Formats: sequence, structure tokens, C-alpha cells
Amino acid sequence: MNADEEKQVASDAAADVVHEGMRVGLGTGSTVACLLTSLARRALDVRYVATSLQTEVAARRLGLKVLPFDTFDELDVALDGADQIASNGWLMKGGGGAHLRERIVAGATRRFIVIADSSKLVSALRSPVPLELRAFGLQATLRQLGAVRLRAVGPSPDGGVIADYYGEIGEPDELARYLASVPGVAAHGLFAPTSVSERFVATGRTVARSNHGGMR
Ligand code: 5RP
Repeated sequence: MNADEEKQVASDAAADVVHEGMRVGLGTGSTVACLLTSLARRALDVRYVATSLQTEVAARRLGLKVLPFDTFDELDVALDGADQIASNGWLMKGGGGAHLRERIVAGATRRFIVIADSSKLVSALRSPVPLELRAFGLQATLRQLGAVRLRAVGPSPDGGVIADYYGEIGEPDELARYLASVPGVAAHGLFAPTSVSERFVATGRTVARSNHGGMR
């Protein structure tokens, strides 16, 4: 089974956590695109919030009801993909440049579920770490961070500059603390194990469900 098929298998399993009447956050990326298909098949009366225009457009095309995030102050569940899932539970996200909104949605939900194919499993996270930088003072932020390259993409929906940090990761919690302490960094792609309620990872037709970081 290839990675795309595994994404669909994991998405079908994860879509079952969504029930009638819920407020649901949707991440961004090719795994979430599979999830949208699984959710559309279930045809539930659910209100969705999207972390990118790409997800919003695709969800609406499938008939899902997407609302602006300022209409809720909490979500029941949010589902998203990841670029890497390390054996210590840390995640790398932001390959699609949506990590600021994904982090906001992950922080606003009662239950944050990560969906992935088996290619995302790694023994330890590898560089680069996606960043969203504030446009104001960009050159000063780049100088402060050092090993950063701007990504050849447009600004984020929130006016941020998408970039990648190529320095050593070392201990992810130390790097996450450092990146969060730089005023020009709006968001980074390191997600702590405790930020994730559950992971659905497909290997072939089998979906392993785990809650490495503990349930919230
Ligand atoms: C977007 C993300 C995605 O979840 C991550 O890049 C995985 O993408 P895909 O499902 O296409 O492999 O963090 O910012």
C-alpha cells in the first residue's frame, strides 16, 4: 500500500471520532484532503473551521459547512496531519506553511488528533523546522535566528513570512522554547507530545492509535 492509500485508511478511522453537532477544526495538507473525503461521506451536521484557504475551498466543494473561526471560542475536536512523528512523541508540522493557524486550532480544541501514513514515523525529528515570521523587523529576526531560509511562497493568510530553520534540533523542547522566545517568530513547527491527544497512524490497512503525550 502506498502513502496516499495509508493516508486514506488513517483518515477513515479518524473521521469516526466526529459526531453530529460537533465543532471541528481541520488542518491543512494532503492527509487532511483525504480526511475531508472521509468526513463528506459521513454527511453529518457539523460546523467546521479550516486552517487554510486550501482546506476551506476543498471542504466547501465537498459540501462541508465551514465557518469563520471567530464564531466559536472552543472546538470539540481538531484533526490534522504532520510532517514527522518522532518516537518520543514530538511532531514536526508546517510543511504546508499553515502552522500558525494549526497551532491556534490545536490550542483551542478539547481533543487534538494527528493523522498520518507510516512514512511520517521517525526515530528523531530532523531539520528544517518550519517558521512563520512577522514581517515587521524581518531582517533583524533573520539575523537573530541565523540558520534560516525564506521559503519561496507568498505571505501567510495572517501576513506572516514562511521560512525554515536549518539549525540542529538537539532537544526539541529547548529549541521550541528558544524559537518561541524570539519576538519576530510568530510560530514554529515543533509540537510537543502533550499538545496531541491521539495519533492515528496507518501502516498498510492497520491503524495504530496512540496517545503518547497523554489525553487532555
Ligand atoms: C501543514 C502541515 C501538514 O499537516 C503537514 O505538512 C503534513 O502534510 P501532508 O499531509 O501533505 O503530508 O503541517 O502546515
